[in-house]
Parts: sequence; structure tokens; C-alpha cells
Amino acid sequence: MLMNSPHLPAFTTRLKHYQQRVDRALDVILPETPTHGHSLLEAMRYSVIGGGGKRIRPAMVYAAGEATGVDQDILDAPACAVEMIHAYSLIHDDLPAMDDDDLRRGRSTCHKAFDEATAILAGDALQAHAFEILASGAVQIDDSHRLQMILLLARASGSEGMAGGQAIDLAAVGQTLSLQQLEDMHRLKTGALIKASILLGAMCSPDVTDDDLALLGHFADCIGLSFQIQDDILDVTADTETLGKPRGSDLKMQKPTYPSILGLEASRKLAREQHRQALAYLESLDQRADTLRQLSAYIVEREY
Ligand code: IPE
Ligand code: IPE
Ligand code: MG
Ligand code: MG
Ligand code: MG
Repeated sequence: MLMNSPHLPAFTTRLKHYQQRVDRALDVILPETPTHGHSLLEAMRYSVIGGGGKRIRPAMVYAAGEATGVDQDILDAPACAVEMIHAYSLIHDDLPAMDDDDLRRGRSTCHKAFDEATAILAGDALQAHAFEILASGAVQIDDSHRLQMILLLARASGSEGMAGGQAIDLAAVGQTLSLQQLEDMHRLKTGALIKASILLGAMCSPDVTDDDLALLGHFADCIGLSFQIQDDILDVTADTETLGKPRGSDLKMQKPTYPSILGLEASRKLAREQHRQALAYLESLDQRADTLRQLSAYIVEREY
């Protein structure tokens, strides 16, 4: 529940602002186009736009930029890039070969609304498009910074990041993982892109120091882990309508999760502990980091 958060009204207003901002930018990047005898572009747009995603990764880009004094116009491109990588990861995550889910963001998953081949291609194309956005002049920063951002997002998405974590997730079906193995899996499959979102926002700042980036990286590790712990908890406790995706998907697929290994209460405690640690890493940052602080609270208190 979000009732305990004293800053919630301010945060929900801020989150809505970020959501609207990235939605406008995504609409420009993925415009409605006449079909070309296939539905690839339509499937890409279907999965990114208008489906009720929380846009939490773009919000992280904007909030990290806010904490480090970056103009919001510069942040639109990395915000769109992380959301497109995320949307691609969800399309593939839902495929029959992976979690085999039919519902996403309150409507049919991409492979149900279109077909499996189109869903695979839509994921592929969204990933490529995300890097195109970063590599093109849309990011108004110098080329050496731009190159670092591309490298960071590539590592966060590939075998050392999200895709690697998804491979561990699939190999772990029906297995009992140790807590350490579970944490390692979560850090890759979800944490890596969340960390990249925070760092990409901060890297757009000409003034950001290596110390700032290190602190923000530690902060991101904590919120990344708490995000997936909360996702695992909600798979057990929330209802399908609120979630917009099928409740109990992890149980159905015999996925090792925090609640299945630790139980619900200990999982909640761990998520809150990660939130506390996350806040501690921000102690030396001024009030411009307040949205990041509120975001960390939102992650563990969210209901979907
Ligand atoms: C769901 O992410 C997938 C995970 C990495 C746990 P979100 O909860 O951010 O999904 P949307 O974007 O709001 O639909
Ligand atoms: C998926 O984790 C993480 C990625 C898509 C990389 P989950 O399989 O738990 O995500 P949901 O619950 O289907 O959104
Ligand atoms: Mg999955
Ligand atoms: Mg899934
Ligand atoms: Mg899940």
C-alpha cells in the first residue's frame, strides 16, 4: 500500500509527468504507419504504446537526470531506449517458449494479438531501434559519452545482463536455488536494465563525478533487486485485473522466486531492507535526488 508514504502525492504527480513525457516521445519514434503487407510495425507499436505500462525505467532516467541537473529534453532519447528494450524483453518473456503468458498490461500479449513469429521480430526490431535512438543525434551529448551510453545499455541487455538473467530463469525452472543464486538471477534479469536506466540519466550530466555514478550505481542495485522481489510478491498476492498480467504465473511455471524460497513476510522485509540501503546511498546528494528517494519507496509499496 502506498498510504505510508508522506511524499506520495508529489511523487504520483512527478511520475505522471514523466509517463506523459516519454509517451509523447515514443509516439514520435514509433508513429502509426500504413501496413506494408506485414504487421511488424503495428506489433511494435502495440507492445510499447497504449498498454498501460508504468514507465518506471524512463522515470528512472528522468529522475537520475533531475538529481544530476540534466535538461529533460536531453533525457527523452535514453528514456525511450530503455523502455523499448524493456518492451522487447516483455514480448519475448511472454512467448510460449518462455513464460507462456496470454495477458500483458491488461490486454493480449503480443504473440496472441499477432502471432509468434511477428512477436519475435517485434522484440528484435525494438531492441535494434533502442540502439538506433542512442546512436543517432537524438541524444544531444558528445560522441564519447554517447558511446559509453551505448556500451552500458548493450551490456545491460545482453548475456551479462537481462538476456543472461532470463537464461538463468529458464534453466532454474523446477529447481531449488540458493538465496545467492536467486539474487544473482534477479540482478541480471531485472536489475541490470534498472541500473542502466539510472546511470544513463546521470551520464547525460556534464557535471556528474565518478563518485556520484558509483553511489547511484549502488542505489540502483538496491532498487533493482527490490523491484523484482516486489514483482515476485505481487505474483502471489495481487489479482490478475490489478496486475494486468496473470497472477500465479511463477507458480504455474515452477519458477524459483523470493516468496517460494523465503516466504512472503521475509520477502517483504528484504525488499524494505533494500529500500533502506538504497536511501543510505543517496545521503550525500541534495534535494534534487528527492524524486529518486520517492521512486525507491514506490517500488516496494506498489500494488501492480
Ligand atoms: C515487469 O516490469 C517485468 C519485470 C522486469 C519484473 P514492469 O512491472 O515495469 O512492467 P510494466 O512496464 O509496468 O508493464
Ligand atoms: C521478467 O521477469 C523479466 C524480464 C522481462 C526481463 P518476470 O517473468 O517475472 O516478469 P513478468 O512477471 O512476466 O512481468
Ligand atoms: Mg519471466
Ligand atoms: Mg514473465
Ligand atoms: Mg514476474
